[in-house]
Amino acid sequence: MTEIIPCKDRFEELVSFVARLNSDGTHHIGFFGEGEADVRASLAECLVPTAEGFRLAYEGDRLVGVFGVDADPEIDRAWLFGPLVEHEDWHTIADQLYAEVLALIPVDIRDYDLFCDVQNIRLEAFAARHGFPLRSENAVMTMTRTDYKPSAKRKSQIIAYDESFFEQFEKLHKTLFPTTYFSARQMVEKINENLQLLFAVEGDQLLGYHFYKIEPEAELGYIDFIGTDSAARGRGVGADLLAAGIDWMLAAPSTKKVSLTVNADNAAAIHLYEKFGFLTERVMRAYRKQVV
Ligand SMILES: CC(C)(COP(=O)(O)OP(=O)(O)OC[C@H]1O[C@@H](n2cnc3c(N)ncnc32)[C@H](O)[C@@H]1OP(=O)(O)O)[C@@H](O)C(=O)NCCC(=O)NCCS
Repeated sequence: MTEIIPCKDRFEELVSFVARLNSDGTHHIGFFGEGEADVRASLAECLVPTAEGFRLAYEGDRLVGVFGVDADPEIDRAWLFGPLVEHEDWHTIADQLYAEVLALIPVDIRDYDLFCDVQNIRLEAFAARHGFPLRSENAVMTMTRTDYKPSAKRKSQIIAYDESFFEQFEKLHKTLFPTTYFSARQMVEKINENLQLLFAVEGDQLLGYHFYKIEPEAELGYIDFIGTDSAARGRGVGADLLAAGIDWMLAAPSTKKVSLTVNADNAAAIHLYEKFGFLTERVMRAYRKQVV
């Protein structure tokens, strides 16, 4: 008999369960990240507190499943963190958890996202059963300090965020990533000592930007967005933005590796990352169901 309860104060139990299962590709859910510190950091970033947004499935005293949700009404999107289930009756428990999690999603949210390793074939079946179309396949790429191949020469002018370029930045970001999770304004508001936004400029023209962060507790750097104006491509601007960001992330002694997620068919970006020493660690599937 399975009992499903809100996470409430069982945070530590949830974190160790997730970290253990998520290291296995056949269970892996992208939104959580890898390792306990990364799982904690991912949960801390959620707008919906874990205590309310997660449901836990128990069989007696044994935790057998976890499913949660984060949602951003500003972009009408919900991210489904799971299901992670350790039980021979995977699908039944996943569906029970899903029914509870669905009830937590605000009614006006339009997009429901699932994100898993391609090896997680039970989640593939779950997505098909619940009507989540496949949206893209993504490569998770990582680079350790020793993998880093710094670029030889830099010629672009790279500056820290400057409000006078905001309009151009917003326009470029909307063009390059029209359906993404952070708006230009949200990125600007997030800038702090661990999170940076760099611009490549030429006179009063914005040529590109790079938005990235370090998570000192997780010993990670993460590239959220990098993009250049299509008219400025192939001149080394992307490489210069990437180099400046990586150097900053690696200057923090806590950073052991830098990672990112890129669409698996984005040859230009993958080529750029590989030149710097990034290697593909996982291939992921992103599903999105649109409701209302
Ligand atoms: C990826 C991107 C930032 C590269 O910017 P850029 O300013 O053209 O980068 P660079 O000029 O420094 O070029 C970097 C390398 O990519 C190569 N490249 C450019 N376009 C390419 C393509 N279509 N296919 C393969 N390689 C390509 C360049 O030749 C260069 O490699 P090289 O030095 O060995 O010749 C740019 O294409 C972009 O903004 N794309 C849209 C947004 C995006 O996809 N961002 C990444 C999401 S994770």
